[in-house]
Amino acid sequence: MAAGVFLFVAVNAACLAVSGNLVSGERSFSIDYKNNCFLKDEKPFQYISGSIHYSRIPRYYWKDRLVKMYMTGLNAIQVYVPWNFHEAVQGVHNFTGDRDLEHFLDLANQTGLLVILRPGPYICAEWEMGGLPAWLLQKPNIILRSADTDYVQAVSNWLAVLLPKMKPWLYINGGNIITVQVENEYGSYYACDYNYMRHLRTLFRFFLGEDTVLFTTDGNTDREMTCGTLEGLYATVDFGTANNITEAFKRQRRFEPRGPLVNSEFYTGWLDHWGDPHAVVDAQKVSRVLGEMLTMGANVNMYMFEGGTNFGYWNGADHDTRFRSVVTSYDYDAPLSEAGDPTEKLLAIRDVIKQFRDIPSGPMPPATPKFAYGFVTLKKVGNISGLLNTLSPLGPVKSQYPLTFEELKQYYGYMLYRTTLPRDLSEPTPLISPLNGVHDRAYVSVNGVYQGLLERDTTLVTNVTGQQGDIIDILVENMGRVNFGSKINDYKGLLSNLILGKDVLTDWKIYPLDIDGAIAAGWPHSDSQKSFPAPQKEPSFGPVFYMGTLEPNGLAWDTFLKLNEWTKGQVWINGMNLGRYWPARGPQQTLYVPGPLLRKNQPNRITVLELEGAPAHLRVLFMDRPQLNATAEKS
Ligand SMILES: *[C@@H]1O[C@H](CO)[C@@H](O)[C@H](O)[C@H]1NC(C)=O
Ligand SMILES: *[C@@H]1O[C@H](CO)[C@@H](O)[C@H](O)[C@H]1NC(C)=O
Ligand SMILES: *[C@@H]1O[C@H](CO)[C@@H](O)[C@H](O)[C@H]1NC(C)=O
Ligand SMILES: *[C@@H]1O[C@H](CO)[C@@H](O)[C@H](O)[C@H]1NC(C)=O
Ligand SMILES: *[C@@H]1O[C@H](CO)[C@@H](O)[C@H](O)[C@H]1NC(C)=O
Ligand SMILES: *[C@@H]1O[C@H](CO)[C@@H](O)[C@H](O)[C@H]1NC(C)=O
Repeated sequence: MAAGVFLFVAVNAACLAVSGNLVSGERSFSIDYKNNCFLKDEKPFQYISGSIHYSRIPRYYWKDRLVKMYMTGLNAIQVYVPWNFHEAVQGVHNFTGDRDLEHFLDLANQTGLLVILRPGPYICAEWEMGGLPAWLLQKPNIILRSADTDYVQAVSNWLAVLLPKMKPWLYINGGNIITVQVENEYGSYYACDYNYMRHLRTLFRFFLGEDTVLFTTDGNTDREMTCGTLEGLYATVDFGTANNITEAFKRQRRFEPRGPLVNSEFYTGWLDHWGDPHAVVDAQKVSRVLGEMLTMGANVNMYMFEGGTNFGYWNGADHDTRFRSVVTSYDYDAPLSEAGDPTEKLLAIRDVIKQFRDIPSGPMPPATPKFAYGFVTLKKVGNISGLLNTLSPLGPVKSQYPLTFEELKQYYGYMLYRTTLPRDLSEPTPLISPLNGVHDRAYVSVNGVYQGLLERDTTLVTNVTGQQGDIIDILVENMGRVNFGSKINDYKGLLSNLILGKDVLTDWKIYPLDIDGAIAAGWPHSDSQKSFPAPQKEPSFGPVFYMGTLEPNGLAWDTFLKLNEWTKGQVWINGMNLGRYWPARGPQQTLYVPGPLLRKNQPNRITVLELEGAPAHLRVLFMDRPQLNATAEKS
């Protein structure tokens, strides 16, 4: 054991010797600077916590996951609040159903778990735009995460809604929230704007009172700690198994000479990007390092304890050297799997925790049952170019030059850009995105016949043939906004002109597409009286919708959907958007299908939007286990 470690143990022993002056029945939570620990009801308190994101788990399963965390021996959970999940349209707030944050807090409280709340407003979390609503981008050149007037106004309006709801849930007010984080790893952001952080501090204090423990979390470098910390907000660090613990906590000590040691994000695993190798973190290393930190008396939050799923369009993206979108699964190689099942890693962690506190007696709840429903053969509904009446009920917006998703106020999913070929192109002619303005992927068809694709940072040219006056359709996919770093002003759609041969394409009709709205209203299954195209004999290419039904068998168990030999697209079951699939790029091969969305006694409606090319067999497979790692085959 290193000398430094020994010193911390000694410091902590002092902390545990404190005797409380508790006025009976009074609830308090505070920092004991003298003895370097938290005090809960005037008694020394050490948290062993795990991150869980309610926005990545169907409401039906919240309790199941929380009970499993409790049974592992955790005494707290750490929770992000994604602003864009609750305020998708500016000024319209949703806190119901899967967005019912207070119900989630209530379940945690009933389970016996304290809460470390992380309300942002920016959260990163590998979540679309780091939780910021894309409507902020309507102001061109807005400086997000700074004292920019419009940004600060929007933040103030949001926190004036969120924080008063949270106030009764503070531990000191009878709830379970012990500490509240301000912003998130702010020191990693280029702006380093103390006026912004001071403004947030004022708002948090105003809405939550003077007695709430507010904190910041930053990466383990001096620069990050310098820009991310502020007086009055307790400074904590985050780091994983690769770091030297002694060094990492020494850095926290430089910024916070006294008070509890806190690792706010101890990485139990890691995320995956499409096209990158599958990430895992060794269970033995995780449990060993956890044990070392707990021995030092440190407070630890494991990020993630239960990762869940990026359903719908909620995945984020990174942009370091190039744009890399986060996969649909947020399994994270966490102690509870994406489907909420206890893993070997969880059992190893529980064995460590046992050495530090009494863990609840009784068995760990088992994995939820899984079922292999088998193959379903889909049929073609039609190509997207032929379905615009259904998918774009309000029709197109006309514009000489392309407009972004944000300008048309459609923030997520897909939009279609249509114009005509300015001249005959009998030879393959390059369609070019000279300024790399396709965000993020564009599927190009002429008169409904697929020609090829453009992709941000990687494919800036594709060939097109056709005749003057032919319709050229460019379906643009938003693959999730950048959630980290300096490129979070991530506008989507066609951000600059496309050039075809020598001509700048102009005079666009831009169709916002409400695919989710059409599917929620029952399409395409409700149209099934109409005759669909005959079953296909050959693969078809380009953006095409398919549908099928999974016949009921009396079960509504979790399952995993594999689209073997399909290329890339989006899947809905019974109206729920399960997210993106991209087996051609990997590593993820199956999509998690939560059992409660299946109907036991009625046909289950499957809708697939395949963007590039479906296999001739048109089969999809429901399996009883996930497949998150296949060798990444580049498409
Ligand atoms: C609010 O969110 C819930 C859960 O996702 C959803 O069912 C509901 O339709 C939303 N409400 C509104 C008014 O959009
Ligand atoms: C939290 O649970 C405790 C019992 O464990 C209860 O006394 C308290 O009222 C609950 N708080 C809230 C806000 O529901
Ligand atoms: C961590 O760093 C300290 C110096 O601060 C050093 O003494 C110790 O050996 C390092 N531990 C490991 C495991 O590398
Ligand atoms: C696309 O759909 C339209 C309308 O149904 C149809 O006329 C066209 O032939 C289709 N294109 C292809 C390539 O199948
Ligand atoms: C486009 O077509 C030209 C001429 O046939 C060919 O040389 C070139 O490789 C093609 N480019 C792409 C990106 O397919
Ligand atoms: C993923 O699969 C590849 C080969 O299929 C293998 O080489 C690699 O070790 C696997 N990665 C993990 C993290 O299991």
